[in-house]
Amino acid sequence: MSTVDTSSIAGRGRAIASPSPRAIALIKAVIFVLCLGPLVRLVGGAALDLLGVNPVELIRRSTGTWTLVFVLVTLSVTPLRRLTGWHWLARLRRMFGLYAFFYAVLHLTSYVWLEQFFDVAAIVKDIIKRPFITIGFAAFAMMVPLAVTSTDKMVRRIGAKNWIALHRLVYALAICGVVHYWWLVKRDITKPAIYALALAMLLGYRAVSAARKRTP
Ligand code: HEM
Repeated sequence: MSTVDTSSIAGRGRAIASPSPRAIALIKAVIFVLCLGPLVRLVGGAALDLLGVNPVELIRRSTGTWTLVFVLVTLSVTPLRRLTGWHWLARLRRMFGLYAFFYAVLHLTSYVWLEQFFDVAAIVKDIIKRPFITIGFAAFAMMVPLAVTSTDKMVRRIGAKNWIALHRLVYALAICGVVHYWWLVKRDITKPAIYALALAMLLGYRAVSAARKRTP
């Protein structure tokens, strides 16, 4: 059976071959497994005692990095889809978003469990005292309603218009995520600056597209 359905028309008047539903399911399955890679690496590293001298820090940093990476990958889907005409990419967006949430939960768990030992008073004190923790929690709080409303059933329940409005939170949470990283870095800001640039490009693309749409 052919994996390509050439009947779909996409892009600026060009006919773009779209993978068949079966091929998309396969692509999704492969990407799903690949996205588990960072977790497998941490679990395997912990089991084999390969996480170095400060495993807790490594887990926290790795899960934080992957949370931000998946947020940016989720935001990349729309520009990529429009630029390439591969509209089927939209079918991967929910998975990337949920992986961002999954790694954020692991990141939060590593902080609450391995760093603060479930000491609620210490966590509250930290949220008040350290601005990068405050903004990290704000970013996480914004992810929760997005994850909860990610199913088709929830889209129907709250209505497409409300759903779209709610899911604009992703822009705010991505900014909070980058600021969180920027604020926690003490000296070399190269890495957070790269994430900030990537986010600026993704948001800039959307701003330009929206402005073009408004122009008669
Ligand atoms: C739930 C609330 C959050 C808490 C309490 C939290 C806490 C932390 C802590 C303690 C660190 C390590 C700081 C250090 O080692 O000096 C960290 C690193 C990081 N966090 Fe978070 N975070 C939260 C949410 C988030 C979210 C939502 C994102 C992404 C959108 C994120 C992205 C990162 C990144 C990229 C790093 C740095 C990783 C690196 O050093 O390579 N965090 N976070």
